[in-house]
Amino acid sequence: MKCRKCTNRAAINMRQHKLALCPEHFIEWVQQQTERFIKKYRMFTRDDRVLVAVSGGKDSLALWDILLALGYQADGLYIGLGIDGGIDYSAESHRCVQKFVEERGDGLTLHVVDVEVLYGASIPEAARSVARGRGKPCSVCGLTKRHIMNRVARDEGYDVLATGHNLDDEAATLFGNTLQWAVGYLRRQGPVLPASAQGLARKVKPLFRFYEREMAAYALLRGIEYIYDECPYAAGATSIRHKELLNELEISSPGAKLQFYLHFLQAREQYGIFQPQDSTVELHTCPTCGQPTTNPEQCSFCRTWERVREQMTKRPTAKATNP
Ligand code: AMP
Ligand code: FES
Ligand code: ZN
Ligand code: ZN
Repeated sequence: MKCRKCTNRAAINMRQHKLALCPEHFIEWVQQQTERFIKKYRMFTRDDRVLVAVSGGKDSLALWDILLALGYQADGLYIGLGIDGGIDYSAESHRCVQKFVEERGDGLTLHVVDVEVLYGASIPEAARSVARGRGKPCSVCGLTKRHIMNRVARDEGYDVLATGHNLDDEAATLFGNTLQWAVGYLRRQGPVLPASAQGLARKVKPLFRFYEREMAAYALLRGIEYIYDECPYAAGATSIRHKELLNELEISSPGAKLQFYLHFLQAREQYGIFQPQDSTVELHTCPTCGQPTTNPEQCSFCRTWERVREQMTKRPTAKATNP
């Protein structure tokens, strides 16, 4: 198959766009499309300072690469979660992020926050001490990542926080929320989450219209080394099953995933359904960390980590090994 734009062999065929492109034109297309989405959804401008949350995976590293290529002021934030899972998961992710930074020479800023160093326990240890050994650490992890991203964005004066969520992530989340008619979550889903209160960073997902395989191809063609493995705790997650279901649908109806998500955004705009309702929610300031919270007292991050520290001092042996 030939590239649509030149006579070279195509490296990728995107059935949903009826578009096949060679490596050079594919890279150009991804960057131009990202620029288009940033403008269309009014994510940020070249005057804004963007903090890119980089996990070491293909999407977030590709995002940082694209924003730098487009000339945006983009710095990175890596959060060390202390997850091993028999594959050195966090150490490997950190190595990939570090390699990305070193390859691009001076001038790139990367903030690194190590959860264990800062808060006294890794994510698996924290989860074990508050859940008494039961359950996965994903909720403590999500809570902690959101808190840190927000804190660094606020303390370091960034205008916006960008994450690497792609279409597969977003469509699977939307699918899960729709199956449950989780109205609260549906209201909060979208490519742009405005800064809902003083101290809560504006959040954007510039890659939300790209398929996962497009991002994998981009990272590969740009020579970005990234961690292939998923988080070891992700195995068996419902969101993975939802991704598989949507992929099955995509085989018989190319573009189904994209339409599902775009029509959700369109319905919100045209019919006013699932509108974000930030103004009706009263926010308080957490007395411990100063971040906005719906809780009249401490925020859930501070409450959780206080419990973790209590448990760790009671049971010093809680500092067990990773999974
Ligand atoms: P996930 O929640 O693991 O699907 O990741 C979604 C997005 O969150 C990624 O694309 C990154 O932008 C960000 N992210 C996830 N893990 C980390 C991490 N350890 N450090 C910094 N950013 C992260
Ligand atoms: Fe947080 Fe898997 S990335 S538990
Ligand atoms: Zn070409
Ligand atoms: Zn707090």
